[in-house]
Amino acid sequence: MLVAEGLRKRFGDREAVCEVGFEIASGEVYGLLGPNGAGKSTTISMITGVLPRDGGRVCIDGIDLDSGPPARRRIGLVPQAITLYQDLTARENLLFWGRMYELRGTALESAVQQALEDVALSDRADDRVATFSGGMQRRLNLVAGLLHQPSLLTLDEPTAGVDPQSRSAIFDLVERLRDDGMAILYTTHYMEEAERLCDRIGIIDGGRLIAEGTRQELVAQVRNESRIELSFGGARSPERSEAIAKSLPDVRRAHWDGEHLAVHADDGNRCLPGLLGALLEAELAPSRIDVIEPDLEDVFLELTGRALRD
Ligand SMILES: Nc1ncnc2c1ncn2[C@@H]1O[C@H](COP(=O)(O)OP(=O)(O)O)[C@@H](O)[C@H]1O
Ligand SMILES: [Mg+2]
Repeated sequence: MLVAEGLRKRFGDREAVCEVGFEIASGEVYGLLGPNGAGKSTTISMITGVLPRDGGRVCIDGIDLDSGPPARRRIGLVPQAITLYQDLTARENLLFWGRMYELRGTALESAVQQALEDVALSDRADDRVATFSGGMQRRLNLVAGLLHQPSLLTLDEPTAGVDPQSRSAIFDLVERLRDDGMAILYTTHYMEEAERLCDRIGIIDGGRLIAEGTRQELVAQVRNESRIELSFGGARSPERSEAIAKSLPDVRRAHWDGEHLAVHADDGNRCLPGLLGALLEAELAPSRIDVIEPDLEDVFLELTGRALRD
């Protein structure tokens, strides 16, 4: 559906986006995950034709973006900033955006009606947007980009400043659109959102795509290891647990930090029975056990040496 290749953008001396490329299929949610300033909005702006490219190519349904309106009309854009008129009602805002997408008459009216229903705002349709909460405005902003039924929807950090209820409404809508066969580009700096929502994820940092794949592929790419954390309540000499853990074949590393024993293993669940057996034999009964699987935060840390959120 979408093919983006070698995208480049420079602002003065700053290389904001450098050789970024990816493909998105119909019925797929592709997440662009990276910290603030990574180049997510700049990438989306080039894909939607809002910002001219310094280099690279964008194709939608096999049509080059540069060939004009037919390609652009297949794209829906939900920008990071809210683009609603505060003094107009929800319905008036959607009618405005629908006309921008060249919808008229009954097609326009039914698209607006459907959009209001999609984000559960029908009962507030004739209230001014100024009276809406941040989450309601986000939801309305989202469907404004959907009125012309695009085949690619681009969402730039659509949950920024949103309450949990609106966030979950946005997730539900994105999943429904995906199931209906839309291709979706979703940017976020929240690891949990990328993990929950995206079929494939590109990790972007400093304007470069540094890794790409499913959540599982990304995690496997850097480290195939889980961490088990144990505490021992009132047990006598719990520091002995370190040596016991280190003597087991499935354990890669173990460290007693004065409070917890951290055990690193290829497969936490396989290692656990043997570890527990050995500890109990030494009269070290754990009072708490956590098996912690690596996540995208660990991937980002491993690739860049920095935390995703700082
Ligand atoms: N219009 C602009 N003029 C100058 N620098 C910009 C402009 N837009 C973005 N940048 C810079 O480009 C980099 C990437 O920005 P952006 O794409 O907005 O990142 P993100 O959306 O991932 O937070 C940042 O260093 C930002 O300061
Ligand atoms: Mg941004």
